[in-house]
Amino acid sequence: MAPRVLCISGPNLQLLGTREPEIYGKETLAEIHARLTARGKQLGADVEGRQTNHEGAIVDWIGEARGTFGGLLLNPGAYTHTSIAIYDALKATGIPCIEVHLSNPDAREAFRRRSRVAAACVGRVMGFGAESYLLALEGLVRRLYG
Ligand code: DQA
Repeated sequence: MAPRVLCISGPNLQLLGTREPEIYGKETLAEIHARLTARGKQLGADVEGRQTNHEGAIVDWIGEARGTFGGLLLNPGAYTHTSIAIYDALKATGIPCIEVHLSNPDAREAFRRRSRVAAACVGRVMGFGAESYLLALEGLVRRLYG
């Protein structure tokens, strides 16, 4: 059976394509998910993409992932900078997770410079627009099955 990867995107990322395109690019999340699925196939992994605006849903999905998904890609959006609950969920499941950002939060407002989830992730990819997701998938699959 192909290894399964769950890609979770958090608040406001359903607006990709029209949301501040000069920062986040013009690609929609559906397009990014389609590219992840296609690249996953080439790499031998099944990728499932989900989005929610709700912190608790992210916590639920991470908690339920054990036994079903071998790895996680996670763009927590603004919860990156605030959510100890998501950090705890990642620590609790122990599933390898790559933190993903389209922009480079370190090069933006000061409040984006702290990630609450980074310490629970095996790696971080940021600043490459939609490509961040694809690069993170490559890194995750290599780490898991390379
Ligand atoms: C983001 C960066 C966050 O600071 C911001 O709140 C987002 C998007 C990114 O992908 O660049 O919603 O996670």
